[in-house]
Parts: sequence; C-alpha cells; structure tokens
Amino acid sequence: MLLWQNPLMSAIALSVTDMLPWGAVQDRENEPDALMSDPSQVESFDLEGESGGSLRAFYHLNAQACHVLAARGARVLDLGCGSARYLIYLARCRPDLTFVGIDGSQSMLKAGRALISSAGLADRIELVQGDMADPVAVAGDDFDLSICLFALHHLPDQRAVLSTICGMQEACAKRNGSLWIFDVQRPRRMVTAERFPRWLSPQAGRLFNRDATYSLRAAWSGDEMRKMVSKATIRQAVHVSAQLIELFQCAWIRGANYLSPADSMKPEYDDAQTTTVAAQLRGLFPRWPQ
Ligand SMILES: C[S@@+](CC[C@H](N)C(=O)[O-])C[C@H]1O[C@@H](n2cnc3c(N)ncnc32)[C@H](O)[C@@H]1O
Repeated sequence: MLLWQNPLMSAIALSVTDMLPWGAVQDRENEPDALMSDPSQVESFDLEGESGGSLRAFYHLNAQACHVLAARGARVLDLGCGSARYLIYLARCRPDLTFVGIDGSQSMLKAGRALISSAGLADRIELVQGDMADPVAVAGDDFDLSICLFALHHLPDQRAVLSTICGMQEACAKRNGSLWIFDVQRPRRMVTAERFPRWLSPQAGRLFNRDATYSLRAAWSGDEMRKMVSKATIRQAVHVSAQLIELFQCAWIRGANYLSPADSMKPEYDDAQTTTVAAQLRGLFPRWPQ
C-alpha cells in the first residue's frame, strides 16, 4: 500500500515533520466550548464511538490498559465520560466491573443514558452531572480505579488539571486503587493540529475533525502533563508520550493492594480493523501497563 493511502503512515509522516526544530511553536489555546453541549457536536462525537467509527480503536486500546489496572469486581470512576460509549465498551469487555461516569454536559449525559439503557447496562453504569475537577464531591470516594480519557485538555488551566488528578487519587485512596489517564498531546505547530485529524481519520465527519483540531490546540504538551502528573500524585506515577506520532500521551498508577483482574478480557468487537489499528497505536508507546 502506498504511504499516502495508509492513514496511520500519513499521520506518522506529518507528526515527524512536526518535530523538526525550526518554525514557531504554537501556544496552547483553550477549547472554544469546554463542555460539549451543542447537540450537533454531541452527535458527531458520539457517532465516531460507534462500531466502525474512528474512536473505536482508541477505546479498544484504552480498554486493554484498564483491563490490566482494574482489579476483579472493581468500581470504576470515569471523568468527562461524554456519551458513555467507552464505558459501554469496557463494561462489555469486563462484565465484573461497575461504573460511575461524570460529565458537565447535560446533552452528553442524556445521549449516554439512552445508550446505556438500550445496551441493557443501567444496573452497572450510572451517570452523574458535575465538575470533574471536584470528583469526590460529585461521586464520593468509593472506587478502585479512576480514569479520564480525552478530557483533561478541556480544562481551562493547570490548576483545574491538578485538582482533577488529586481528586482521581482521592476517589480511590481508601482502596489503594489505580489511575488511568489518556489524552492528546499538543503538537509544536498549528498546521499539524489542522491537518492531523484529516490524515488519521479521513472518513470521520467534518465536525468531528474540526473539534479534533481544537482538541490538539488545547492539549497539554508532554512536558506540561508529565510535570502536572508528578506534582499531583502521591504515589509513583508513570507518564509516557507516544513516539513517532507524538500527539498522544498516557499516565497511570497501579494500585498498591492490587488483585488479579478477571482472567481474560473479552473484546466487544472482534473486527480486524479496530484491533489492528489499536495494536499499531499501542506500538507507539514505549511503556504500557502490564
Ligand atoms: C472529548 S469528550 C471525551 C468523552 C469520553 N471520555 C470519550 O473518550 O469518549 C470530553 C468530555 O469532557 C466533558 N467536560 C469538559 N469539561 C468538564 C468538566 N469541567 N467537568 C465535567 N465534564 C467536563 C465534556 O462535556 C465532554 O463530554
């Protein structure tokens, strides 16, 4: 397959040019809408989380990490859960887990509750409206795993991120639980933020890719995130930036009183495209929860 016909290879080529040492480095720009409340924005984001959507491979990849970090029977707290597509995915992969998702957007939660109900998962996934920067006030501190996917870049400043990460720890401190963070990472150049979404997911909707550009501009750089994670966490945290495509990053803490997870994760969707792209993305990270 020619280089420019393979979205992942094209994305690598673009992000490698982003690393070249010349040209102005872009400053961070806050998301135009911190909360995703506009119905068309909610719909376009949610659609990409459906089977065949461009978020599926990311959900599969994140489910593999959460599988390792979630003890058997764990209660999981998800901050900035959106329409709960990821929680539904993870719930099907790990039938022993239960979940509370927090989001500030009523429209996202409305979409999420409808999806949860039609998936028959209302007894395992609860959604609550609130500010993810204060999760214990919203959902309590009775959790084994706190997670946050594609949401820290929505926060307006580093103070809010520190408060969120501290809250994630506090929410699972009683049970010596685990933490998992996955997010985009800010590129050096504006042009990368504009082109990357179209190169990586050419089939995605126009509105989704426009929002992905805003997300890349609002993302924390790898250095910023590494420093915030180490400042906010009491126990030793690991932070890793993707290599080759330096536009994704993750961080985790493995719980101290760790129990073996359920023996094997059952992928919800066995489609080759999702698992192949997830494996390619996983290969970009030099370390990963084991
Ligand atoms: C890009 S979406 C990610 C959704 C989900 N985690 C996923 O990966 O599918 C970010 C979500 O964070 C929510 N959000 C932004 N700021 C928030 C805050 N301060 N408190 C709670 N939710 C927030 C938005 O409403 C949006 O639903």
